[in-house]
Amino acid sequence: TQTAKRWRLGYHIMAPSGWINDPNGLIQYKGNYHVFFQHYPYGVEWGPMHWGHVASHDLVHWKYYPIALVPGDTYDRDGCFSGSAVEDEGELCLIYTGHRYLDKEKSLADQVQCLAVSRDGIQFTKDSNNPVIASYPEEGSGDFRDPKVWRHNDFWYLIAGTTKNHIGKVVLYRSSDLRTWTYLGGIAQSEGNQGYMWECPDFFELKSPQGIEPEDDCYQNLHQTGYFVGHFDDECFDFSHGSFNELDKGHDFYAVQTFQDDQGRRIAFAWMDMWESLMPEQEEGWAGALTLPRELTLAADGKIRMTPVEELKKLRKNKLLSVENEYISGEKTYHELTDELLEIEVEFDTTLVEAFDFGINLRVGETEETVIRYDLKEEKLILDRTKSGTGVGGVRQTALPKSERLRLHIYLDRSSVEVFANDGETVMTSRIYPTEKNEGVRLFSNEGDVRMTRLNVWRLENIGL
Ligand code: FRU
Repeated sequence: TQTAKRWRLGYHIMAPSGWINDPNGLIQYKGNYHVFFQHYPYGVEWGPMHWGHVASHDLVHWKYYPIALVPGDTYDRDGCFSGSAVEDEGELCLIYTGHRYLDKEKSLADQVQCLAVSRDGIQFTKDSNNPVIASYPEEGSGDFRDPKVWRHNDFWYLIAGTTKNHIGKVVLYRSSDLRTWTYLGGIAQSEGNQGYMWECPDFFELKSPQGIEPEDDCYQNLHQTGYFVGHFDDECFDFSHGSFNELDKGHDFYAVQTFQDDQGRRIAFAWMDMWESLMPEQEEGWAGALTLPRELTLAADGKIRMTPVEELKKLRKNKLLSVENEYISGEKTYHELTDELLEIEVEFDTTLVEAFDFGINLRVGETEETVIRYDLKEEKLILDRTKSGTGVGGVRQTALPKSERLRLHIYLDRSSVEVFANDGETVMTSRIYPTEKNEGVRLFSNEGDVRMTRLNVWRLENIGL
């Protein structure tokens, strides 16, 4: 039964059972939010990809719908890979990659782009023109996938990821009917250590409040989710951009996709794992999940801010704690915070601190804990999961310049933690697999006191997926 599954998440999108990876086809259609996902329903490992499907009226409460795409046609024989969704003349259209192995052992593939449409948003029919892009462009290769489609003026545009000679690329197409596509050229490609294959590209407009001043970052995961902020010239299809930045600094965040909703918000979901992630939940018959929906905005420093969407406040069942102005000296454990589904807002004063570092430990057990720590000297935020439970380990750290307050907005679920620091300036997402009796949440400071200015904690709803 579900209750026996100790790591099954309470308020994140997961498959009913089996495997899930990338979010796909994000769209608001006829008033509902739809999320599709790469899915193998018959096992807890990656297999021939289907598109699973959930929908919601509020981005918070999700319901399962029948599997939307099943592989098996000549052009998608070995999988319906990632893609996106648009609405065209009242129909919900999915544009996805048909995957066929030329040589499975060598992972040699021939990938094409395909279309499937639906009138009700539930039953999808693959288009008779498939594949709608039957071969890769000259500057690409058989690794040619993950179409992202959008409307601009009178045309549909599509970008896909590809590679040639170990250079990752994004290529651009245009169409007036989603069925016949004209190749326009490459718009970006990797340099240096930016990756030999670019998958799951996305491309969208964020209004900039000011000029752009990008800066470099360090990449600690094997797979990276990076972004460039730049300017797109829609007459000559030229994209000039700054440097590559990581969008989330945790262990488990990949294949992010975005869409724009009717309020003009740019909303993102990502796979809350990585190809290299261990997935101890496989023993419970499921593997993988998506992150919470996050709103993307562009800040004055030219970087993207990522914050949980406003609607997530609906998850709050009851407030467990609300305290202000406490001095933390050493450790303080809140034994009343033993719920598995928590939202935590904690703020520290960083102006008069004697401490060397301070922070918050989640899922504190006899020997286990997940540590979120701010190092004042290094001005770094650290997520340490060396003691987070079964299978996982590793420390991630990221520069977070000191400002007067350090605000952490944390979503804790049974096997995940999402940390939004200083209103989305830095975000860290990681899976954790605690096994010990939950003794609560602990604030700490090392080598001196810190003033915690505010701590608000809510117990969150289990949405029952
Ligand atoms: C990214 C990815 C995509 C591909 C899909 C296959 O995680 O490799 O490029 O379409 O997964 O499941």
